Amino acid sequence: MDKRSVLQARKAESVGQQVCLEGWVRTRRDSKGGFSFIELNDGSCLSNIQVVADNQLPNYESEIKHLTPGCSIRVVGEIKESQGKGQATEVQASEVFLYGTADAETYPLQKKRHTFEKLREWAHLRTRSNTFGSVFRVRNRVSFSIHQFFQERGFLYVNTPIITASDCEGAGEMFRVTTLDVDQPPKVNGKVDFSKDFFARPAFLTVSGQLEGEIFATSLGKVYTFGPTFRAENSNTSRHLAEFWMVEPEIAFADLEENMEVAEAFLKRIFTDVMNDCAEDMEFFNERIAPGILDTLQSIVDSEFLRCSYTDAIDILQKSGQAFEYPVTWGMDLQSEHERFLTEQHFKRPVILHDYPRTIKPFYMRCNDDGKTVRAMDVLVPQVGEIIGGSQREERLDVLESRMKEQGLNAEEYWWYLDLRRYGTVPHSGFGLGLERVLQFITGMGNIRDVIPFPRTPGWAEF
Ligand code: 4AD
Ligand code: MG
Repeated sequence: MDKRSVLQARKAESVGQQVCLEGWVRTRRDSKGGFSFIELNDGSCLSNIQVVADNQLPNYESEIKHLTPGCSIRVVGEIKESQGKGQATEVQASEVFLYGTADAETYPLQKKRHTFEKLREWAHLRTRSNTFGSVFRVRNRVSFSIHQFFQERGFLYVNTPIITASDCEGAGEMFRVTTLDVDQPPKVNGKVDFSKDFFARPAFLTVSGQLEGEIFATSLGKVYTFGPTFRAENSNTSRHLAEFWMVEPEIAFADLEENMEVAEAFLKRIFTDVMNDCAEDMEFFNERIAPGILDTLQSIVDSEFLRCSYTDAIDILQKSGQAFEYPVTWGMDLQSEHERFLTEQHFKRPVILHDYPRTIKPFYMRCNDDGKTVRAMDVLVPQVGEIIGGSQREERLDVLESRMKEQGLNAEEYWWYLDLRRYGTVPHSGFGLGLERVLQFITGMGNIRDVIPFPRTPGWAEF
């Protein structure tokens, strides 16, 4: 018997086929006529398929009539045209095999709707709910799009280390990795003796694969990384995770202009793929979670991204007449309230801000001739704020060295990074897209903890 997914079985062309379906019961309803309707879901799509099981089946009284939400079953039967609303097909069961029961008293996912906070406590079961099924199908499609977009443009997928010594963003937000006994570390002259550590030196979880990505860009041309990154930022917000996934393209011989063009085409490709290939899930988000998101995504795909310099943005904010919590001055890091004003009230759509003050940006960004700004860019979107951060990189050895000095970095530790400028240096650019941030934007899920399977945040307690 051919195994089919619910997605396949729901298609009208499946009518007449004998199939085998496996999944979890969502509901069961008994009719007076001596049969039961079982709503079956297997995760292949948002919708369930209706299974009709009649009392001729040998286990009808003993098992089928006791099926409750969460039970796992196998159904063998024929796909029939359905008279029911909202479904082309249903299955007339010739066999219903019960794999596992789910105690109706204790199974958490009952018909009653739970809050997302509550569902977070059941990270092992929430994926069986409609919302989280949709979130993770969309997440899968976005990940696939990311690879498709870059592969089709000749970018090579490279893997950068998770354990590293360098703090790419220079923000001191790295998690330390150590085999030393943290209660009683070995010491010499009162200082921790890292020669006794596994790596014989301090090691950390990466905050970004960019610096190593530059090694590949300056040899293979166009590359991208896509993997987990870690930040010990103690910001307990709806947009920050301690472990998140980042996509980082790095492009040799590209300036900031080209970088922005790639970022724009990249986001448009992701939005288009999700609308085309996750239509049912996106309808769900459009109706239940983020009213109007489909129109928003389509209009973003159809129009050019706005570009605005940091300096102009400051001007707009200062003239806005808004009472911001953080007063706006040139040189400040924009806060979420400022970013939201720009995208939600002023421009009313995504915007790429560029040329930020050098004092608030990392050492590797290319300095502008004005001596005040660097070739940085951030892509900001309504509701979420920054989803992409990137820059043209400083390719001039002397300028880079003085920038590192300015920021108190030890040039010796970055000798390999400086070598890339010493030997055949080239202009190059890249950016990082936070996977969870773009998912928040697409799905409208308000909290970043609800677009990653196992959120890691300050005080995280569940598994
Ligand atoms: O702006 P960021 O810090 O840039 C970098 O790390 C660069 N090295 C990237 C590059 O040029 N290759 O981070 C990039 C993006 C942000 O725009 C945001 O979407 C996401 O990563 N991000 C986070 N997402 C979730 N939780 C956090 N704590 C995040 N920090 C950054
Ligand atoms: Mg940033």
